[in-house]
Amino acid sequence: MKKVLIAGATGYLGNYVAQAFKEENYYTKVMVRNLEKFKEKGINADEIIQAEITRPETLINICDDVDIVFTSVGITRQKDGFTYHDVDFQGNLNLLNEASKRSVEKFMYVSVYNGEKFKNLKICEAKEKFVEALRSSGLDYRVIRPTGYFSDMSEYFGMAQKGKVYIFGNGNNQINPISGKDLAKFCISAINTGRTEPEVEGPETFTHNQIANLAFEVLGKPRKIIHLPMGIVKGAANIMRWLMSSKTYGPFEFVATILSQNMVAPSFGSDKLENHFKSLKP
Ligand SMILES: NC(=O)c1ccc[n+]([C@@H]2O[C@H](COP(=O)([O-])OP(=O)(O)OC[C@H]3O[C@@H](n4cnc5c(N)ncnc54)[C@H](OP(=O)(O)O)[C@@H]3O)[C@@H](O)[C@H]2O)c1
Repeated sequence: MKKVLIAGATGYLGNYVAQAFKEENYYTKVMVRNLEKFKEKGINADEIIQAEITRPETLINICDDVDIVFTSVGITRQKDGFTYHDVDFQGNLNLLNEASKRSVEKFMYVSVYNGEKFKNLKICEAKEKFVEALRSSGLDYRVIRPTGYFSDMSEYFGMAQKGKVYIFGNGNNQINPISGKDLAKFCISAINTGRTEPEVEGPETFTHNQIANLAFEVLGKPRKIIHLPMGIVKGAANIMRWLMSSKTYGPFEFVATILSQNMVAPSFGSDKLENHFKSLKP
């Protein structure tokens, strides 16, 4: 039985990945920093290791007997004083260093679609710096490059619940978001394909306006979308860069960049965004 070490299982994608590896009969060793959060999530795993990816001394020997390492560790909404460089780059590098000592069969990492093109953004700069380290590690690797997750589309649903959806720009650019469950299946399928850095997204393509409209439709509420001109949004992002820490302006500049272009990657899976929104309905 193959053994996989999963880092990031307390997060949206990692939780589904842990489940999917289990369903595929892997022995799952899950690395978490917060055992309480792990228990709350009810993750089913064969082994749990408490470790802190930003502290390499807690990772010693963590890859012993491990065949595959999967990490979706990265800062999204966490507000715990770390920077993208500390976590997305250095944290994952700490894990890669351990994996290299044990010559694991495969190291899998989740970056973002077009990450190399967006290296001017703090979040992508850190992720792609890690990708460069992974490429030159000598290990066989996979970098999964998704565009948007259903969990992020929930932001539209949350705004619609409050009555108004705010969209950066005209909302006409497209995206094909993917569910955590479908993406987890894709990650496992990627182990045995030859492509080292596959791009992927969900089966349905929407404009951002259509996603907002879908949220209103599911809620049975009147549509109210407010478009914030992209020029003003980008100006605000530049000012925020000077005045605020990267964990404050980072998500803002990332969302502004995503919404200013089409983010349509090769499609995979079958989960429908409408069903995800229905599952969020109170
Ligand atoms: N959301 C999207 O649309 C999207 C699209 C493309 C790529 N991605 C990338 O995909 C990855 C996974 O996304 P996700 O939505 O699953 O994120 P998530 O729900 O926030 O999960 C992130 C994981 O990283 C861990 N983590 C964060 N900061 C940490 C720290 N300082 N020390 C140790 N662990 C830390 C979290 O642990 P805790 O639970 O303990 O905080 C969690 O397990 C991220 O790198 C994200 O940038 C996301």
